[in-house]
Amino acid sequence: MGASGRVRQDEVYRGGITGRRPVVPTAFPALERRAKRAMTRRAWAYVAGGAGSEETVAANRAAFARHRIVPRMLRGVGERDTSVEIFGRRYDHPLLLAPIGALDLVSRRADLAVVHGAAQAGVPMIVSNQAGFPSEEIAPYATAGWWSQLYWSTSDDLVDSFLARAEAAGAGAVVVTLDTTVLGWRPRDLDLGHLPFARGLGIAQYTSDPVFARLTRETADGPSRAAPTPTPAAVRTLLEISRNHPGRFADNLRSPLPRAAVETFLRVYSRPTLNWDDIATLRTRTRLPVVLKGVLHPDDARRALDVGVDGVLVSNHGGRQVDGSVATLDALPGVVAAVDGRAPVLLDSGVRSGSDVARALALGATAVCLGRPFAYGLAIAGAAGVAQVVRDVLAELDLTLALAGAQRPADLEVAPFGTTEPVVRPRG
Ligand SMILES: Cc1cc2nc3c(=O)[nH]c(=O)nc-3n(C[C@H](O)[C@H](O)[C@H](O)COP(=O)(O)O)c2cc1C
Repeated sequence: MGASGRVRQDEVYRGGITGRRPVVPTAFPALERRAKRAMTRRAWAYVAGGAGSEETVAANRAAFARHRIVPRMLRGVGERDTSVEIFGRRYDHPLLLAPIGALDLVSRRADLAVVHGAAQAGVPMIVSNQAGFPSEEIAPYATAGWWSQLYWSTSDDLVDSFLARAEAAGAGAVVVTLDTTVLGWRPRDLDLGHLPFARGLGIAQYTSDPVFARLTRETADGPSRAAPTPTPAAVRTLLEISRNHPGRFADNLRSPLPRAAVETFLRVYSRPTLNWDDIATLRTRTRLPVVLKGVLHPDDARRALDVGVDGVLVSNHGGRQVDGSVATLDALPGVVAAVDGRAPVLLDSGVRSGSDVARALALGATAVCLGRPFAYGLAIAGAAGVAQVVRDVLAELDLTLALAGAQRPADLEVAPFGTTEPVVRPRG
């Protein structure tokens, strides 16, 4: 059953009687403003920033504005059902948390706060390959489920190790991110000269991995690279790397391994030559359902199914990779038509509210992933902030269905901006 929007409204309005107001703003613009105040300059640049001139960040939002719900009246919608089945498991809500890496920039022990928030709100978390904790330490708290996100490393052994670990820790699926075979051109981070991974943040999945440990020892034993000039900033970075590396700070300071781990990570984390043949090998490498993240073209969606993939996630990484890329809501109908009901189609990038979720579902998405908004909830109020952002999105989704005369998302009607003729749902 869908989360009752009225329950959430009641909670807020009743709290208001005794002078309590929501700690986390309930709409995105205020949420974003509050989060910015709660974050360091570097964290804000990393999370809010996009590629290039951030046209795609804006395009993702513009695409939602170009699609309008056409409410239908008098349909007697007393109860709404937004539950959805994906890979044989029924989820209460058509919402997952998108994988977001390096969240330790935002708050300490961030991924544990996120998984607690997700569990409180009853939604699954997609655990990033760039999390600040190993999946094994996050998974036990993911009572509403979790999936594992993978960046395909240049080391096949490391890929196999990540896949085996995800399976052993009970992931519901593996989400292979295709759109980050190299890092996009991100001016906000570039202008600060800041990359979290170079400071040992967001590499815990790697430093907890036996294959990566071997690669790191090889780096440490190999020809040593010239140490950076010992400026005060370089010393601070070294201290940060030692602090972020597993083990005792004092030991890390004396060991070559923390720096070697960062160097190794930067060398192996993603494979620019990744191609369809690699993806085809996944069927023999893991028993987990495989979702490809970053699919935007109908032909890529068809090809994904041809090579045995189980689902696709229409994403442009929140506009962080290809500036000028197509908006995901615009790409969605073509992908849904190509998939033709054979596999789940998820969407992210630009989802900011329950109304956005409703529009994506109306255009054929099976479920939707929430990105930056939950990171902002985290910045403001930790696990409770994550839970509140998610609950608010779900509450608005439920109220939107009620007000649009839709008992379930499939009943929603959406028209292109400026028209009232609903789009014919592409789902078969
Ligand atoms: C700070 C940040 C870090 C991210 N890290 C990852 C990651 O580690 N793996 C991944 O597949 N996607 C990552 N993404 C992309 C998200 O999974 C998702 O596609 C994106 O946030 C959707 O855009 P939106 O936040 O504007 O809605 C990241 C996004 C942000 C904002």
